[in-house]
Amino acid sequence: MQNSFFIKKKENSNADAFNSGTKKSCETVSFEPKIIGFLCNWCSYAGADKAGTAQKPYPPNVSVIRVMCSGRIDPQFILDAFQKGADGVMVLACHPGDCHYKEGNYRAVQRYRLLLKLLKQFGIEAERCRFDYVSAGEGDRFVSVINETVKAVKKLGPLKR
Ligand code: FES
Repeated sequence: MQNSFFIKKKENSNADAFNSGTKKSCETVSFEPKIIGFLCNWCSYAGADKAGTAQKPYPPNVSVIRVMCSGRIDPQFILDAFQKGADGVMVLACHPGDCHYKEGNYRAVQRYRLLLKLLKQFGIEAERCRFDYVSAGEGDRFVSVINETVKAVKKLGPLKR
């Protein structure tokens, strides 16, 4: 009788060890990326607001930083975000021709193209840094851009520093 108790206890401890191993491997598989989103105040941020007021669900992986214009985003902000723990970065701007400061988004997209070359030098995949356009009325588009970016970064896995 005493032996069977001991055996049962031992079986349970083996099951516990197995379960904790399974739990750990599940934690590794369910990677949730940290993404920083720089959103222009006049269009993209308003688009995000529209998605929010319409209660459109989207993943909570993106931390939003509101800037007055995408032209305000220094490439150093993006490099700092990657250095300080982001797995991905998004820059969302007004559509071409809609920038409230006329040329801000044109400058932003030029800087973005140069930045991609720099990121490549650092071994950071281009898919981790997305530039896109979202207007104030495009709540659905905002949600789909977020979903696509989170999916792409999840596929890449955590950024190795
Ligand atoms: S004001 Fe939106 S990109 Fe310039």
